[in-house]
Amino acid sequence: MPTSARTRVVALISGRGTNLQALLDAAAGDFPAEIVGIISNREDAAGLERGRAAGVAVDVVSHRDFESREAFDQALLERIEAFRPDLLVLAGFMRILTDEFVQYFEGRMLNIHPSLLPAFPGLDTHRRALDAGVPEHGATVHFVTPTLDAGPIIIQARVPVELDDDEHILAARVLREEHRIYPLAVHWFAQGRLRLRGDTVLLDGEPLRSV
Ligand code: GRF
Repeated sequence: MPTSARTRVVALISGRGTNLQALLDAAAGDFPAEIVGIISNREDAAGLERGRAAGVAVDVVSHRDFESREAFDQALLERIEAFRPDLLVLAGFMRILTDEFVQYFEGRMLNIHPSLLPAFPGLDTHRRALDAGVPEHGATVHFVTPTLDAGPIIIQARVPVELDDDEHILAARVLREEHRIYPLAVHWFAQGRLRLRGDTVLLDGEPLRSV
């Protein structure tokens, strides 16, 4: 597929960027999307180096340089738009975005969250899953809507919780699945198979009810 025909993806990161790496690896092969830009709100994010190593343009917009969430989001939006993206992916981006920002990218912004949403939105999902004694845990890719970690679900991956798991072992098991399902969701989007209609996710024109 010629480069110009590929879906243009911008990734927002804050940290190590292993999900970003999974997307970069996928995009390096026969894949209908390309990562055209990576933006971090932290200049020490290890994911920036992953982007540079892959030859992708990187940028830093530090939230510390702005007096308000609104001002940060406006600057972020402008820097994102400079890459002319078709799709925005949050890949470990640790800032709450304003409703205005989210609405601007509605239907073309994805997030990956390390739990089986709606269970365990927010932080420390693996510890909370262990504390709750759930038999299964996992990860979710969803469209981003204004309520944190509550957007319509695209795909989930389940893993068992084993008796002797600690937070790190469980996190690693979930992360392996994250690296599988995020590129898959981006693939579907880039193929034009994935759409958000209201609160409903359509895959090939059919509502996705449960996964
Ligand atoms: C992942 O667990 C992802 O689900 C969550 O933040 C973490 C980011 O990890 N949103 P990485 O930076 O992709 O390695």
